[in-house]
Amino acid sequence: MSTDKKLRSYDWFGKSDKMGFVHRSWLRNQGYPDDYFQGRPVIGICNTWSELTPCNGHLRDFAEVVKRGVIEAGGFPLEFPVTSLGETIMRPTTMLFRNLAAMDTEESIRANPLDGIVLLTGCDKTTPSTLMGACSVDLPTIVVPGGPMLNGRYKGECVGSGSFNWLIKEKQKVALYSDADIHAMEIGAARSQGHCMTMGTASTMACMVEALGLTLPGAAAIPAVDSRKKVMAQLSGRRIVEMVKEDLTLSKILTRKAFENAIVVNAAVGGSTNFIIHLLAIAGRLGVELNLDDFDAIGSKIPLLLNLKPSGKYLMEDFYYAGGLPVVLKEMQQYLHNEVMTVNGRPIGENSGEAACYNDDVIATVDKPIQNESGIAVLRGNLCEQGAIIKPSAASPELMKHRGRAVVFETIEDYHQRIDDPDLDIDETCVIVLKGVGPKGYPGMPEVGNVDLPEKILRKGIRDMVRISDGRMSGTAAGTVVLHVSPESAVGGTLALVQDGDMIELDVENRRLHLDISEQELQDRRAAWVPPAPMATRGYVKLYIDHVQQAHLGADLDVLRGGSGSEVTRDLH
Ligand code: FES
Repeated sequence: MSTDKKLRSYDWFGKSDKMGFVHRSWLRNQGYPDDYFQGRPVIGICNTWSELTPCNGHLRDFAEVVKRGVIEAGGFPLEFPVTSLGETIMRPTTMLFRNLAAMDTEESIRANPLDGIVLLTGCDKTTPSTLMGACSVDLPTIVVPGGPMLNGRYKGECVGSGSFNWLIKEKQKVALYSDADIHAMEIGAARSQGHCMTMGTASTMACMVEALGLTLPGAAAIPAVDSRKKVMAQLSGRRIVEMVKEDLTLSKILTRKAFENAIVVNAAVGGSTNFIIHLLAIAGRLGVELNLDDFDAIGSKIPLLLNLKPSGKYLMEDFYYAGGLPVVLKEMQQYLHNEVMTVNGRPIGENSGEAACYNDDVIATVDKPIQNESGIAVLRGNLCEQGAIIKPSAASPELMKHRGRAVVFETIEDYHQRIDDPDLDIDETCVIVLKGVGPKGYPGMPEVGNVDLPEKILRKGIRDMVRISDGRMSGTAAGTVVLHVSPESAVGGTLALVQDGDMIELDVENRRLHLDISEQELQDRRAAWVPPAPMATRGYVKLYIDHVQQAHLGADLDVLRGGSGSEVTRDLH
């Protein structure tokens, strides 16, 4: 299929007037021959490379490989940088800047003479942010996920990035590891270029874009340093040129059914809870109807097929050797909309038709899954009028129904100050309540929901307690952790009104989260509630606080929902 539609870039390079001269002439300083300006599709390679984003540190090389493919297919590649978000480095949290990066991506695409886009992504926020921005422009777009690191290794043991950090944090408290041990782990957990190699948020995002049909088949699991990753990048460069000719835009691929597929696949792979907030934001950019309850209705009864850390045994490298995501897609065909179109021009069901599993201990079958039910449970109740979430597969079965006394921390700093105080009145039956870590309250909704247990409880050998917050949780973490409570405490949600000693009831099976105080008491507390002082009075952070939406809507800025298309009505004069 090809269309005779005029290339968008023609409006820049095809003109014979003064501005056509200007557009071409300055670009020629990089040495492009005449034919580059004469009808070649111009492909923007949107690169989140940054030395400050370690997981994306190899993407400069990848851009060159993508360019090879674009040129082979007759396109004109132009690489451009966008805001990159390094999860392990940026303060106070990359989530504060996801929408900024999305805005940067959107405007960079729209303002330039681009016909098609390749998104080079990797670390947690770099995939959703660039995709959100690209959706608001809606050009033909393909994603090249940068790939996971090789498996972490330490003293003969396979260690997952992120997951092991939590273990170290806990075990440090009971002094099982020496400083030398931890130093060795620090190196052993990051053996190659690439993003976290557990089924954390970056791997989840890579699976998400493949399940949405936005990558070439099999792209998600290939390790960053495997030569086949570069082959995938080159082929993606070739393919985007054809996509421009076919006018295969994002909105033609990202239908409601594609989002439903992504929810099914995320449950089957045991993906991160961050998937929810990012998928909601992406759908919001396209005007696709998707809400929090869809994640429970579509995903919560899906069998878990992947035996990957943080909850399982293996890592992304093993997943790739076992056959990668196409095996999951093939196995899940009975749950998927197999007719949904993908970037290679074929339906997703056809793409996975040939997939073969090479290790069923890594990728299980629907008939014999790792767990019968995976996915996300969406909770409701007076403590979360707009919803909250929990990942049952990462939680302790014995805590899924629990009534406990609240121990409240007003901020994350308050938590750090008091959690290990020997005099803190807390035991393992209590519920840890953390406020002030939502989108507006922190601001930026950090991954702190899985706060550590008090040292005195860890010393008893106890590893899990019910924890509730308006924040997020790292995809590499686990526990009976209720997250994304909406409305958040900073805007006066019921979470703001919880006090030490209140009883809280969690009932995951019945999807209930309840603060057990009288309606009158609740009203009195609400009337007496004083909003916190604004966390910023200027700059991007003020803009963010003023416009960010609540977690159940995807925490995008209200002014960024929807799209403005690719047209720019005013010329450069
Ligand atoms: Fe970048 Fe985990 S820190 S993917």
